[in-house]
Amino acid sequence: MADRLLDAMARSASRQYGGEPVTELAHSLQCADLAHAAAADEELVLACLLHDVGRYAVDQALVLDSKEPGHRGGAGARGHQERGAELIAPYVPERAAWLVGMHAEAKRYLCATDPHYYDALSAASRYTLGLQGGVMAPAEVARWNGHPWLADALRLRRWDDQAKVPGKLTRALSEWAPLLRRYFDRP
Ligand SMILES: [Fe+2]
Repeated sequence: MADRLLDAMARSASRQYGGEPVTELAHSLQCADLAHAAAADEELVLACLLHDVGRYAVDQALVLDSKEPGHRGGAGARGHQERGAELIAPYVPERAAWLVGMHAEAKRYLCATDPHYYDALSAASRYTLGLQGGVMAPAEVARWNGHPWLADALRLRRWDDQAKVPGKLTRALSEWAPLLRRYFDRP
């Protein structure tokens, strides 16, 4: 599984991250570096590195919220965050998979609770917000408040939003291989 995952990540270097000025791989690597620089724990760094795995390692016909305008997922399509969380859940700690599955909800949560957040979102992120359920309603916000992992989900989300800087230098994918092998090479 580690080889499959590393291969899918390497191939994601040839695809643009939706309407953003970075490739999918550069976006993942920037997100992981931001978490690492903020001294995030290993599970959170892992979740940052893999948060968009549902975009590059999953058949996009199964995904509802592709960033490609006009994309329509097939029957039974679900959000890329859910597909990604499902893919990695057998290999990673529950919290890491939960954080991947939560990163679109975290955007919906921040749009509802931080007045400046929506204004700072990129056009591509605003476009997918609509596909992801839109701004979170107060009752749903109240349900997430107090969740023990919510703060981590919001940190991941903010790094996700910042990880779109063209040409930024990051660790190479190969530098993350030992971490990925530790989790994904387990039987
Ligand atoms: Fe992302």
